[in-house]
Amino acid sequence: MPRQRQFIARGISLILISTFLYSTSFISLPSTLFSSSDVISSTLNHALERRQSPGSPTGTALSTGPTSPLILPSPNVTATGPWAKSIIRAKQFTSSLTLPEKINLTTGIDVNGRCVGNSGSIPRLNFAGFCLEDSPLGVRLTDYNSAFPAGINAAMSWDKDLILQRGQAMGAEHRGKGVNVQLGPMMNLGRDAAAGRNWEGFGADPFLAGVASALTIQGIQSQGVIACAKHYIGNEQEHFRSGSGGGENSVSYSSDIDDRTLHEVYAWPFAESIKAGVGSVMCAYNRINGTYACENSKIINGIAKEELDFKGFLLSDWAALESGAASALAGTDMNQPGFIGYGIGPQNEPNPSTANNSFWGEALAQMVANGTVPEWRVDDMVVRIMSAYYEMGQDKDYPAVNFNQLGPTQPGNEHVNVQGNHSILIREIGAKSTVLLKNLNGTLPLNEKKLPRNIAIFGSDAGPNPDGPNGCGDRGCDQGTLAMGWGSGTANFPYLIDPLSAIANWVHENSPDTMIEYVTNDYNYNQVTSLATQADLCMVFANADSGEGYITVDGNAGDRNNLTLWHSGDTLVTTASSHCPNTIVVLHTVGPVILEKWIESENVTAVLFAGLPGQESGNSIVDVLSGAVNPSARLPFTIAESAFDYSANVVYSNPTNEIIIHIPYDEALEIDYRHFDANGIVPRFEFGFGLSYTTFAYSGMSITKASTFGKRYEPHYIFERDAGDSTTTSWVTTTETTTITGSSTPSSALSTASVSLAPPKPSPSSASSSSSSTTSASSSSISTNSSSSAPISSSSTNSSTILSSSLPPTPTSAPVNASLSISGTGPAVTPTGGIGGPTSLYDTAFTISFTIHNTGSFDGDEVAQLYVGFPDGSGEPPKVLRGFENVWVGKGGRCNVQIVLRNKDISVWDVVKQAWVILSGRFTFFVGASSRDIRMSQSVTVTKLVTLEGP
Ligand code: BGC
Repeated sequence: MPRQRQFIARGISLILISTFLYSTSFISLPSTLFSSSDVISSTLNHALERRQSPGSPTGTALSTGPTSPLILPSPNVTATGPWAKSIIRAKQFTSSLTLPEKINLTTGIDVNGRCVGNSGSIPRLNFAGFCLEDSPLGVRLTDYNSAFPAGINAAMSWDKDLILQRGQAMGAEHRGKGVNVQLGPMMNLGRDAAAGRNWEGFGADPFLAGVASALTIQGIQSQGVIACAKHYIGNEQEHFRSGSGGGENSVSYSSDIDDRTLHEVYAWPFAESIKAGVGSVMCAYNRINGTYACENSKIINGIAKEELDFKGFLLSDWAALESGAASALAGTDMNQPGFIGYGIGPQNEPNPSTANNSFWGEALAQMVANGTVPEWRVDDMVVRIMSAYYEMGQDKDYPAVNFNQLGPTQPGNEHVNVQGNHSILIREIGAKSTVLLKNLNGTLPLNEKKLPRNIAIFGSDAGPNPDGPNGCGDRGCDQGTLAMGWGSGTANFPYLIDPLSAIANWVHENSPDTMIEYVTNDYNYNQVTSLATQADLCMVFANADSGEGYITVDGNAGDRNNLTLWHSGDTLVTTASSHCPNTIVVLHTVGPVILEKWIESENVTAVLFAGLPGQESGNSIVDVLSGAVNPSARLPFTIAESAFDYSANVVYSNPTNEIIIHIPYDEALEIDYRHFDANGIVPRFEFGFGLSYTTFAYSGMSITKASTFGKRYEPHYIFERDAGDSTTTSWVTTTETTTITGSSTPSSALSTASVSLAPPKPSPSSASSSSSSTTSASSSSISTNSSSSAPISSSSTNSSTILSSSLPPTPTSAPVNASLSISGTGPAVTPTGGIGGPTSLYDTAFTISFTIHNTGSFDGDEVAQLYVGFPDGSGEPPKVLRGFENVWVGKGGRCNVQIVLRNKDISVWDVVKQAWVILSGRFTFFVGASSRDIRMSQSVTVTKLVTLEGP
């Protein structure tokens, strides 16, 4: 039976089941209902908006939008693949637990534990349970930890080694503090340039975010810490996100995303994370196609657990659950922090299995007892949680929690120093993530032997926060230099080197007689004018901040209200530069800002875009100014000439008082540069842009087809759906019929290349013919295991907690109630592919080779980028990033570069086949230094469509 029809059939049966559940469950009725139908969910969830703060709008209009199909039952994890041994151990362990013990592992103890999230414990086994702690840039809410560059800076580096090392170092620090699960990386995309949490993630391109996510996860997990890929999915703005804050309103929006866009854009980084072996995924606050993320069986059961064969556990964002049975049956495995909502009912229940302030907890036991939730579902939750635990080796010598998230001065904080020598790495990433946007006449680097006699530095962003680096809780203010945004994605600074003192020290060391004056009052234009008039060199620092919606800063409720610089930064730049013909601008911003008021001014001689560099900010910027580091960073998003040029924007208001705000992702595949390219919009600085102190020439492009191109696995893969469905589907082996023919295209001809600007079509395969296939294959281009010589340290602790964070190797006690143990009664749903999808997706299709020649007078790194142009009629944007390499080339030297394209990288998602396909037609591979600085291209023609399906 075609999958689409099966979804419908299963959906109908589940509506019947849910109707039955409605009438039989004795826990609160709405919480046990499925809300897959937007009408049903709108009505009930409206009734259920329990977590809203008093006075917040509840909505009156019943909005319409797409519905999310039901995909049930939830697949049990299968003991296959690299995790097989851990899964078997987890199954054995789970079978020894009582139901209350199992529930304690699935439900949190609210917010008064030592970590921001804590599962219940198992005293019988002396097991303390799980500690879950933010953030994606360091250990949050403690001391003697590092404050790493934000995720957006990791992406800006386009440096795979540094991204991996950052993950390793963060993992080591979380381990040293006794954290079992690091709540990161965050991999939502920058659909809306102003969205508050974009800086926590890796930019506006799914491929770049996928690489950065996978490497970060590999780094974190190499230290034995379970990483958490968040927020699954479509959590692309803060306004109306609901949950534990979401700006001034609390109506949970629905990201309405078509199936193809979901797969090709928003799910892509999560798929790469699962391929990389991530142990946990966090479902988001928002809805997707009308259904809350944590009860959306399509995205959890369907995509994560079936299509991608995710072996780990799905945990809720904090108080993101809106229901009991629906979330459990949709595939959510852990409820954090446990309670129904902030400020609702008791906020500290140490034993979840008896807690009645939760959608799960005691209610889950009741749902099992009355048959609403089968016990095999609870078993599978625990098996998945424990599989990740065993797979990371946390059963051996894992440190106990040694801090207290309530604050560094709270009881239980042992002040364990986990920083190691990570400051070296932080400084390096800070410098290597600073994008050089403009550099007239070699203004930079500054010659330390001939520094100017009079330097003036302007802007509060240059100096310290008068209240100290941690003076505002969760960094919820914009005072002093900006080195991270605000919200849960933060960490306390151990110290923060501000640019003003770092630059002053450096200048003074090299030129003791130079005058260095400054104005850190952003609005004292008279003094700025006075100093600028006298100075030989001016530096203006300005910023733009954003964060999570539970904090509002200067009227910005998480999301930025606009894309301008804060504190009238534009006026500061124009005031200084109008009197100072040599003005360098340094920007610390959370994302794109509009630069039009001054970017073309001849007096603005250089511009550095430094993002959020973390604790070594000042030292990093000195390294770039001085030339100790030759800039190689690139923009992971587009900087537009106008905020209106982007294809999407934050929805800030709800004028018609909708119950659910539907946000249609009408731009589909065309976010960020894809939209600019498709619509001929000229950006100020394009995606992938960044200058260097040297110059690079590209030559000698060639394409090699791999033997694994377009291959899938045979023979006769049997496709099982669910218990009772006897339908099997098999495919007949055919001989490979795919051929390629090559042709070179001079880059000058690119503007006339024929590419389709059409929106994605429902069935990209409809115009194409049959599939081809043969036998097996192997390698993957980015999912290699981590190993690095990074200077990473971890520390252990001498905690005196009563319960241990490590389990005894074999549980000693018999289960209290053997009838509640795993009994093989779970669903017979077989994942449709391997981990991350069909294995063949990750096999090599083509290798693109070329040479880079450093033609300038500085050694440096070059970020070579590979974009793919799909065949006419594919519905794809003109070109999409599908590979990059960051290579060092000495001045005058040459470097041979190879970029591997996997089958996945040249595939599109066929919504009818529910499979990835390589279309037939002409593909063009563009090699260049940015998305618009294309230096070479070549084309290949694929003569037969290939469907990449199978294990
Ligand atoms: C955020 C998550 C975070 C959690 C715990 C939520 O508000 O969305 O990213 O991990 O809180 O602090």
